[in-house]
Amino acid sequence: MERLHKVSAGFIFAFICLHFANHLIGLEGTAAHQQFLEAARLIYRHPVVEMVLSMAFVLQIITGIALARVIWTQKKDFIHQLQAASGVYLAIFIVVHVAWVFLGRMILNLDTNFDYAAATMMTPGWSWVFMPLYGLAIVALFTHVGCITYDIFKKTDKRLGAACLVIVQGVGLYVTYLLLMMYSGRLYPVTLPDSYTDVFGHPAAAAGAPAAPGEEKPATAEPAPDKADGKASAGDK
Ligand code: HEM
Repeated sequence: MERLHKVSAGFIFAFICLHFANHLIGLEGTAAHQQFLEAARLIYRHPVVEMVLSMAFVLQIITGIALARVIWTQKKDFIHQLQAASGVYLAIFIVVHVAWVFLGRMILNLDTNFDYAAATMMTPGWSWVFMPLYGLAIVALFTHVGCITYDIFKKTDKRLGAACLVIVQGVGLYVTYLLLMMYSGRLYPVTLPDSYTDVFGHPAAAAGAPAAPGEEKPATAEPAPDKADGKASAGDK
C-alpha cells in the first residue's frame, strides 16, 4: 500500500512542481502566467499524460485514505497524525478542485486560467469559500511534504528532521500568502473579462459600484504599496 502511494506520488509531484511554477510565475503578471500555462498544458493536457495523472490521483487518494486509517487506528505519533490529516484534506480538495476545473472547461466553456482562479477569489461571496479552500490546500500540501522530509532526515538526526519540517512549512505559509494576495487582486490590479464576471458576478458591483454594461471592470482590491508603481502594469494582458 505504502509502495503504491509512493509511486503515484512521483507522478503527482512532477505535476505539482509544474502547477506551482505556473502560479509563482503569475507574480510577474497575468501575461507571463498565461504564456507559461499554454506551454505547460502541452505536457499535462496530452491525453496520455492526463490519463496517467488522473489514475495517479485516484490511486493516491485510495491508498492515502487507507494509510491514514492505519495511522489513526494505531494512534501513531504527532508527525504521522499531521501527515494523515493534511493528506485527507488534500484528498477532499483534489476532488472538489478537479471537479471545479472540469466544470469551467466543459460546462461553462471558460479558459480555466488566471482569470478563472481570480474570479473566484476576487468576488465577494465566492471569495469566502475559495480563499480558505485554496489557502488550506497550499498549507496542507507543504505540511504533507514537510512531514516526508522529517521522515527522511530524522534517520540522520531528529533535530535536522524537525528543522526541515519547520522550514518547508515556513516556505508554504509564504507561498500561501503570495498566491492568495495575487489571485485576490491585492498584489497588482487585475481586470477580469466580461465572460468571467458574467458567471461569477462583478467585484465592483458586489461591493456597491456597478459598472457600465459591456465594460471590462477593474478589481476593487487595492494593490500592495510596494507593487503599486512599476509592478502594477504586470497584471495587464
Ligand atoms: C492557489 C492554489 C491553486 C489554484 C489557484 C489552482 C488553480 C488551478 C487552475 C486554474 C487549474 C486549471 C489549469 C488548466 O486549465 O490548465 C488547475 C488545475 C489543476 N490543479 Fe490546481 N490550483 C491550486 C492548487 C492546487 C493544488 C494544491 C493541487 C494539488 C494538490 C492542484 C491540483 C490541480 C489539478 C490535478 C488540476 C487539473 C489539471 C488538468 O487539467 O489536468 N491545484 N488548478
